[in-house]
Order: sequence, then structure tokens, then C-alpha cells
Amino acid sequence: MSITRRAALAGLMALGLSTPAMAQAYPTKPITIIVSFAAGGPSDVIARLLGEQMSKTLGQPILIENVAGAGGTAGAKRLAAAEPDGHTLLIHHLALAAAPALYGNLGYNTKTDFAAIGLVNTGPMVIASKLALPPQDAKAFFPYIKQNAEKLTIAHAGVGSNSHLCAVLMSQQLGAKFTQVAYRGTGPAMNDLVGGQIDILCDQSTSAIPQIQGQKIRAYAVTSAERLDVLPETPTMTEAGAKLDMTIWHGLYAPKATPAAVLDKLNAALREALKQPAVQERFKAFGTSTFPEAQWTREAHAKLFAEEIEKWAQSLAAAGIKPQG
Ligand code: MLT
Repeated sequence: MSITRRAALAGLMALGLSTPAMAQAYPTKPITIIVSFAAGGPSDVIARLLGEQMSKTLGQPILIENVAGAGGTAGAKRLAAAEPDGHTLLIHHLALAAAPALYGNLGYNTKTDFAAIGLVNTGPMVIASKLALPPQDAKAFFPYIKQNAEKLTIAHAGVGSNSHLCAVLMSQQLGAKFTQVAYRGTGPAMNDLVGGQIDILCDQSTSAIPQIQGQKIRAYAVTSAERLDVLPETPTMTEAGAKLDMTIWHGLYAPKATPAAVLDKLNAALREALKQPAVQERFKAFGTSTFPEAQWTREAHAKLFAEEIEKWAQSLAAAGIKPQG
């Protein structure tokens, strides 16, 4: 038994509460959802939307804490060390699964330190530029960046983040070496793209769509197999003549030793949130969606997480990328 689990159980016993009794009383205080990136980015937007809905079912406020840094691994490390009582959770995306292939010393074990609560949403990335970049469409964009890559800046949210993985895949695909600029999340990176301080950003549709619709940035392509209903003019990468298929997803996690009955309660609250028309509509407007309802179980989340750890380990190793640090 880990020290954390032992300490948590000792605390329960001191209070005279058994694990099932604790699960029944749960939650007894406000819940914190850790977001591993800066405020204003796509993970933060999804977390706030979910938190607002889940707090109605759970009867306690849900606070969002942005613990940014090291490509999203700082927030994951915070969760791994948290009390396993269901009052500290983490929302994270596929970067949690990719991290062990990129970082030698995470300070936690990706395979054994997290309990899956449920899958949240899935959607594509959008490749976009500042408005002042000369190419007006994907046909002109790809030859342009091939010729000018070294002069161009591409923003991302740290090594292993979605935006970083997208930038790496795009560089490989085009044989182009961009100047990378790391931020603590794509929220501040998007602000700099809108402001024209950086040239290119590959971000989740959640953040990109409002800026594209507001004509603040230019979209060249989406990384999904089909065009998005909300961006009908923007081609897929395949239509644009480049191969980059990237689908991102978020899941909700608790520390591993959290009692199963608490995880079930959280899964039920998550399902209730995902069903809400307000959530479904916001997801649709962001070009993202929930998973099919059959996949709203804890087991389906744990399965996808385990598969993605293997998938990213293999694909990053095949690309010659080794864990650093
Ligand atoms: C964010 O919320 O800032 C993003 O999820 C970061 C990323 O992975 O690109």
C-alpha cells in the first residue's frame, strides 16, 4: 500500500469513517479540478464548463486550479501526490499518455498513479496563422511554410502538449524546421497569434474556432478526417495535400487510491454533465463532441488511456524521439 493511501485510510479511521461511509458522505468540501495549462486555453474552457455542471449534481463548489508547466506534467504530478479522497481531480488530454515517451523523470508513474473517472470530449486540431501571414489558403500555405520555415515562429504549450505534438508532426510531414516558442498553455499563445507576435499555432478547435469566426486569425486546415460543420470552408489536412491525422481527447482523473464508490459518484456526475443540452451545444460550437454514451464508463476511459500510452510510446520512438531529463 502506498504511503498516500495509508495516510488517507488512517485519516478515515481517525474520523471513525469506513471507506463506504466516506463515499456516502462525499463530497464534504469544495472540489478542485487541476488544469495542467494556463487559464483561457481549451483545457481550461472545458474544465470550467464541466465544473459548473458537475457541482450542481455533487452539491459542492468546483474550483479550477491552473497548474501549468513542463508540457502539462506539473499538474499531473500535483494530482499524483494529492489526497485520494475525491476532492482533488485533474482534467487532462492525450498529453498525459504521451508524456512518458518524452520525459525521463516525471516524478509519477503514468500507468499506476491515476484512476480514470470518465472520458469528456474528443475533437480535432486546427492549423492557423496570424492574419498578416501572406498565404490565404492551405494550397498556398504548405509551399510557403516549406520555403520559409526557419523564419517562421510556431507556438506551443510545452514539450508533449497537443500543440507541440501537432507542430512536431507538421515539421516532419513537411520536412520543415520551424522556430518553436513555448508557452504555459495555448490560451496565452492564442493571444499572441491574434496580436501577430507569433506566426503559426496548431490548437484545439475549442480555442481556434471563436478566433477564426471573429476573423482574428486564419485557418488553413483541420486535422480530422471530415470537415467541421462549424468551419465548412476549412479543408481537412488530407484535402490540403498533407498527412496529419490528430484527434485529441480529454479525460477526468483522480489519484489512484481513491475509493471505487467515490469514483462511481464522480462518474455519475460527469455523465449527468455531459448529457446537458447546454454542454452539448457548447461542445458543438467548439467543433468537439462527447464520446458515444457506451464509452462514458470508467472502464472505457481506463482502456483508452492504456492504449494511448502504448500508441504514443511507439509512434514517438519510431520518430526517433527519446525521453529527456
Ligand atoms: C491548453 O489548454 O493550453 C492546451 O490544451 C495545451 C495543449 O496541449 O496544446
